[in-house]
Parts: sequence; structure tokens; C-alpha cells
Amino acid sequence: MIKTLRGTKDILPSEVSKWHYLEDKIREATKVFGYKELRTPILEHTEVFSRSIGQQTDIVNKEMYTFEDRGGESVTLRPEMTAALVRSAIQQKFSDQGPIKRLWYMGPFFRYERPQAGRFRQFHQFGAECLNANSPISDVEAINLALHLTFLLDIKNYVILINSIGNKISRDKYISQFSEFLNDNSSKLSELSQKRLIKNPLRILDSKDKNDIELLNSAPEILDFLDSESSDHFDEVRSILDAVNVNYKIEPKLVRGLDYYSHTVFEFRSDVLGSQDSFGGGGRYNELFSQLGAKKDIPAVGFAMGLERLIIILENQKLFSENENAKGIYLVKADEKASLMIENVLKIIRRRGLFATLDLTGKSVKSQFKDAGKNSFEWVITIGENEIISNTLAIKNMIESKQINISLDELDTFNF
Ligand code: HAM
Repeated sequence: MIKTLRGTKDILPSEVSKWHYLEDKIREATKVFGYKELRTPILEHTEVFSRSIGQQTDIVNKEMYTFEDRGGESVTLRPEMTAALVRSAIQQKFSDQGPIKRLWYMGPFFRYERPQAGRFRQFHQFGAECLNANSPISDVEAINLALHLTFLLDIKNYVILINSIGNKISRDKYISQFSEFLNDNSSKLSELSQKRLIKNPLRILDSKDKNDIELLNSAPEILDFLDSESSDHFDEVRSILDAVNVNYKIEPKLVRGLDYYSHTVFEFRSDVLGSQDSFGGGGRYNELFSQLGAKKDIPAVGFAMGLERLIIILENQKLFSENENAKGIYLVKADEKASLMIENVLKIIRRRGLFATLDLTGKSVKSQFKDAGKNSFEWVITIGENEIISNTLAIKNMIESKQINISLDELDTFNF
């Protein structure tokens, strides 16, 4: 039997209604914030990601689905959207079309990671990016949009972590002091962190190793290295968040797994998710446009959330309504000759935008009623010999257990 690839899965019809629910809420959230959807190809030139996410990051180093196409070109299945969106913004000259561009996206992404609960090789993200925006208000807008989605979904019990990794000058100063501290203590570092020390010391802040964590408690913190531009920006972000009563925690170790960030970074985490506890993350990326070939730096900020992880949280909080057939109408065939009239009735009902269906396996009248009950249909319409002769319908409300007869002409206006 040929099966799905490891880390990928079929989303079955029984689960799709959850996805639709989530996708509808995402559309609702982006609409009230005035973001417009952007759809880009899933396949991009490899350099879109290798030049932006960082050569020494896990994503570029070992997680990208990269291959040569038949023309010998190196192409990559997108591991994230920010770089692809910036590629599109430069190519389509978005930034020439007005000062601020608010964009959102949703779709599949690919990372060759070790699969585990909440971590897949094909996963889905919703994200939003605000381009050409330098104001701390736009950092807060990104956090608020993510927050608005959690509000619409009624998600509880999560934390928002924020940090600033400053501008490049502050960050470089910090990296050099931080590396010096780690070099002095390198014998206490785990093997993985010793490797990272040479290539990408900031990643050590993400270490899950017990001894590393202990050592990091006495390491220098980035917030002490912010120059006035960087600390003013961060102070402003925090005071706006405070003013609108957003609950957040400052986490000086938060640096994120992609290299394009500057200034504000943030993550949404939930205990429900176990070790893969981050269900959203983002930040400011003021240098990404020039890294990807724009003539000048364009400040921008955004975030992305994992749909699989949001669904796990919603399932855990039992936030999905179970009954997909509520308001549904089941047509019961009670006479051999009823088929033509049933088809006519189905057409009228469906044109009213209502869900109606019927048995296709030749069940008895009793079994058809049982089927409708078992699948929680709210209405059953029975068509038998009497109904055919008198051009009427027997309509039963299954919840109230009440049946009435109407003429076929009344079907168009009947209050289901
Ligand atoms: P990220 O933190 O790599 O950021 O991914 C964002 C979210 O995608 C994560 O918080 C997680 O919920 C979900 N996710 C990531 N990898 C997986 C996986 N293997 N399986 C399931 N879910 C996953 C970014 O991608 C940035 N582009 C976010 C951003 C937008 N920054 C600025 N703008």
C-alpha cells in the first residue's frame, strides 16, 4: 500500500469542517484589520530563502526541500512566507504603490523536520505582514491581529512572549559580548551549542539542554545592549501594549529561528501543545528587503501562526461544534415513483442555499428515518404515494418531533 510521506497527512472530510471554521475566522480577523490576501507560488528559486532566512539557520541548513528542476535550476518548496512575500513585493513594486501595504496569506509550507506531535513536514500557516511601516504602532498591530484571532477563536491559556533584538549595531555588540562569555565557558556547553558557538551563537539561547540553560542564566542579556534607537522603539511598543491591556511577558532569551529579524520579536505559546508549544511567532525585519535585492531598506513587521497547532488547541478546548448536519434536510423516499419529485424538491431547497441530501443505497423507509436521526439531521421530508398525487410534502422537524404537510408551492418560502 502506498502511504503519505512521513510528516504529511490527509485532511479527511470529517476534519475539514474544522479547517473551514478556522479559515473563516482568519478571513474575519484580517478583514477588520484591513489586510489584503496575497497568494504566491509554492515553489521559489532557492536563493529567495537561502539569502534571507540565514545560511546558518536550521531551516536553510537542513530542513529545506530543495532540488534541481528539469532545467537544472535549484528550486525550493517554501519553508515560510515572509521571504517569498518580500520577493513578490520587490518584483511587483508594491512599495511604490503607497506608503503602507498590509498583506495576509494562508497555505501549505514545507520543512524537513523530525515529525512529532504538532510538528509536520507539510504544515499550514496563516500570516500577515505590514510593509513600509517603521512605527512601533505597526509592531503592536501585528501582535493585535494575532491576538484578535485568538479572541475570535476563544482561545484561552496562552502566553505572549516579546523581546527586542535591536538594530544591527546593538545586535552585533551583543553577539560579540555573548560569544566572549560563551567562549570563556565553552567547556560547560552541550555539544550542539559548542557547534553553534562557531556558526550562529544566538541560536544557543534556544537550547533545551539543562546545563546550557543554567549557564545562560548568568549570560549577558540583549536588552542591556540596545542603543537609544532600539530601546526607544521597544519602550514605545511596550507602552502601547500596556495601554490596550495586552498581557505579555518579556523574554530576553527569545531570538527566533530565522535570521532576518531586528527590533521586536514575539511568540504566542500554549501549554496544551507540549514541547512544540509555539503556535505563532513573528517580528520586525527592517533589513530583509535589501538582503533580497531591493534598492533601499523597507521597514516591515509581521507574524505567522500554525494552523495544525491552532486546531490542536481548539480540539483540546472543545471549541468545535460537533454537529455538521444541524439544519440539514434529509429526503425520505417512501414510494418507488418518488425519485423524480425528490430530485425536484432537492433542487428547490439547494437553490435556497440549504443543505439537503438523500439515501443512495435503497434503504427502507424506516432505515432512512433511522439514518437521518443517527446523523442528526434537523429536518426530514417524506415523499410517498399520497404526496405525489396531491403535490404536497410531509415535513418533520426531528428535534421537536412535529410533522406538517405543505404544498410544493410553499417550499420556496417554508421557514426551515
Ligand atoms: P516560524 O516561527 O518559523 O515563523 O513559524 C510560525 C509558526 O508556524 C510557528 O509558530 C508554528 O505554529 C508553525 N510551524 C512552524 N513549523 C512548523 C512545523 N514543522 N509543523 C507545524 N507547524 C509549524 C515564520 O515562519 C515566520 N515567517 C513568521 C513571520 C512572519 N515573521 C515575520 N513575519
